[in-house]
Amino acid sequence: MSLNFAFIGVAGYVSPRHLSAINKLGHNLKIAYDVNDNVGILDKFFPKCLFYNDYNKFKHNFKKIKKKIDYTVITTPNNTHFKYIKFALINNSNVICEKPLVLRSNHLKEIKKLEKKYKKKVYTILQLRTLKVVKDLKKNKRLIDKNKNKNYQITINYITPRGHWYKSSWKGNSKKSGGILFNIGIHLLDLVCFLFGQYKKYKIIKKTSSSCVGEVKFNKANLRFKLSINPEDLKVYKDRKVVRDFIINRKKIDLAKNFEKAHYDTYRDIIEYKKFDIETVSNSIILAEKMSK
Ligand SMILES: NC(=O)c1ccc[n+]([C@@H]2O[C@H](COP(=O)([O-])OP(=O)(O)OC[C@H]3O[C@@H](n4cnc5c(N)ncnc54)[C@H](O)[C@@H]3O)[C@@H](O)[C@H]2O)c1
Repeated sequence: MSLNFAFIGVAGYVSPRHLSAINKLGHNLKIAYDVNDNVGILDKFFPKCLFYNDYNKFKHNFKKIKKKIDYTVITTPNNTHFKYIKFALINNSNVICEKPLVLRSNHLKEIKKLEKKYKKKVYTILQLRTLKVVKDLKKNKRLIDKNKNKNYQITINYITPRGHWYKSSWKGNSKKSGGILFNIGIHLLDLVCFLFGQYKKYKIIKKTSSSCVGEVKFNKANLRFKLSINPEDLKVYKDRKVVRDFIINRKKIDLAKNFEKAHYDTYRDIIEYKKFDIETVSNSIILAEKMSK
């Protein structure tokens, strides 16, 4: 069955991955909004889609067709997600919102109330969970270590340098992005929570505006992580331009394989299997919020 979508934030960097997934799955984009109007990409995927760069006009026209809208996609700066999630739920639409779903755990509670009230659901994008290597590990952690009683040692070194633009954009403003733990770390924190459950305790060892080093203890796992967008942190790695090491008990897990397909897989999992709902992603948001304080 072909479903109808609305889209908020359609002019941005990550938007084409969403447009492509909606298109490939055979669904339709009816209406889109962005404060900017560089949205020629719509012609590639959905030439008949309505577009507004004025919020009042978008709201007015959304409301006229709201009975037809099944999902509203949100890919705006992180601090605006909550406002648009509320708008969509109140107008009887399910939501697919980019990571991090929200920046405050009390917003999770409000969203749950609204989901109940309007009988609609909110889903998020945490595409690493769709990778085959992660699914296999979730089913059977003994792929990593045959001794099931052993504690797992996880090391994450995630150094993905960003240029000067980052500091000037909303991504470099922690009030808007939530800072490095939310904007970059959430993918990895979510992955560890997905595999090892709720965290027990955490410790921040060092935090700057461009990096964070810390430890998190889980029931059967100890995580040590370093996240950084500072090119200086690459120096010790000699020739590497980016470091995305995710290691469990000395075994390197390749999170780059099939990454391009991951938004498509996430959409399929949400629409067909109702995965990635608010319950399953709350753990990592609560952890990122605590560690950001
Ligand atoms: N899952 C992933 O791998 C992944 C990758 C990149 C970004 N993201 C997430 O996707 C979202 C968008 O990131 P991006 O890299 O595309 O950023 P971006 O800045 O390129 O795009 C954001 C878009 O939102 C628009 N916008 C800004 N403020 C707005 C507002 N108040 N109302 C409506 N539109 C507004 C901008 O004009 C822009 O087109 C963020 O939540 C980010 O964390 C996820």
